[in-house]
Amino acid sequence: MKNLNILFAASEIVPYAKSGGLADVAGVLPKALRALGHDVRVVMPRYYIVDKEKYGLKPLDGPLGILMGVMGEEWGSVYEGTLPGSDIPIYFIEHEGYFGRKGLYEEDGFGYSDNDNRFIFFSKAVMQLAKKLRFKPDVIHANDWHTGALPVLLNTTYAFDPDFENTGSLMSIHNMQHQGKFYKGAMDVLGVGWEHFNHNELEEYDGINLLKGGIVHADIINTVSHKYAQEIRTAEFGCGLEGLVDAHAYKLYGILNGVDYEEWNPSIDPYLAKTYDAEDMSGKAVCKTELQKIFNLPQRNDIPLLGWVGRLAEQKGITLLSSAIWHLMKMDIQIVLLGAGEKWAEHFFRDMAAKFPDKFGCFIGYRNDLAHQIEAGSDIFLMPSLFEPCGLNQIYSLRYGTLPIVRATGGLEDTIENFEAVERSGTGFKFYDATPEALIGTATWAIDTWTYDKEGFDQLRCNAMQKRYDWDVAAKGYDALYRRIIEGRLSRRQHWE
Ligand code: ADP
Ligand code: GLC
Repeated sequence: MKNLNILFAASEIVPYAKSGGLADVAGVLPKALRALGHDVRVVMPRYYIVDKEKYGLKPLDGPLGILMGVMGEEWGSVYEGTLPGSDIPIYFIEHEGYFGRKGLYEEDGFGYSDNDNRFIFFSKAVMQLAKKLRFKPDVIHANDWHTGALPVLLNTTYAFDPDFENTGSLMSIHNMQHQGKFYKGAMDVLGVGWEHFNHNELEEYDGINLLKGGIVHADIINTVSHKYAQEIRTAEFGCGLEGLVDAHAYKLYGILNGVDYEEWNPSIDPYLAKTYDAEDMSGKAVCKTELQKIFNLPQRNDIPLLGWVGRLAEQKGITLLSSAIWHLMKMDIQIVLLGAGEKWAEHFFRDMAAKFPDKFGCFIGYRNDLAHQIEAGSDIFLMPSLFEPCGLNQIYSLRYGTLPIVRATGGLEDTIENFEAVERSGTGFKFYDATPEALIGTATWAIDTWTYDKEGFDQLRCNAMQKRYDWDVAAKGYDALYRRIIEGRLSRRQHWE
């Protein structure tokens, strides 16, 4: 089968810049696609934190002129590198005004007020970069609202551009909650014509919605799990776009994310006090003691340790946890938490750590090493999300033998099998209702299993550690979607022309 030219654009990519799982995905999926033989080119913004020297980035000759509608022409430059551990070219769009800042999207909890211009600029730069490189993509792969303008630009500004004559687009939705909604004036910057500012394309409540534009204009859309693809067609999960998504369900697919087992593997993890694997779990006990040391908790092996890693965002079920924790603190257990996000939650969990210094430890901030140490040192992993497009932490937990407690939604539902006490089958503990009571009930079940049914718990651990969610499986799914896009391309052209 013919190898394809794929132009892959994302707003964050590991190891350069990361705020969540999108960066993990964008750092590994291109490699899995490359392994299938495709010519993949990756593009992201050159934020201030992307260290040019450390990554050996070299400038491409000449500036990149971007027409920003009423704002006139703006100039960017491009730096080129190679995605670590591969031969994949990665390009960084540099614009001091837009990207030379401390944060990716926000600072101190406040989103940048010009995020519309920043990511419209970035999307246009991606198109211009392809022309500059004389790279004719078969598919432009956009990820989340930041690159939602790409499918729109392809069907409008670039509709008759010979360089994109054979190009189709895929819009991957990693999170429906963030849609890129702005004042409609952004239409004058996007410059695709006000005729596209209508309820069936970019308009929503008299503002512009970039993800909506991407969903409508892309040849195919996908979410990062099957369950979430179904869920976003409903009012509970569609974040206002459920009707639109449902109308486009004919081109909606779900592909479960994979995991980078070179990074998340307890048998080779350099951050652990002692490595381990299913055949010899003694290292896990060492990691537990070490974790208790890190969080200044009593070093006890006779009680279960529950871990949490994740953004302190409503999505992640922080309201459930903050209500449930009072009850959980009455039990003979320990909990450690690593996260940053909503200020009230940061304060709340800090306060809890002060109130229960022997039972609750927290680190408010972002630390990759500690994330690994929590995955390894905990017995049970907490992930009570209200919604979860895929979720990576619960999959990491499986590999580390840290049994996840999850709410049965999105990717959590797709990746975790509920414990069945008689058969001793399953890989974790699930609850359904988004209530603190349900979380408490399921946590008690998991804790009791750890305490009173050691054999059952060990068997579950074994099941979990054997599970694999490899990227090559996901990449084959994307490969199939790309080919479907190429087949359907002619009809797409006719539709928008
Ligand atoms: P989301 O993308 O919604 O945040 P995922 O589970 O897909 O959720 O991915 C989260 C990623 O970010 C994981 O790799 C996780 O380890 C990491 N992460 C989240 N918060 C932190 C933190 N405070 N410190 C270190 N890593 C974190
Ligand atoms: C989003 C989702 C998360 C998913 C990640 C990568 O941030 O919240 O569930 O795993 O994207 O696709």
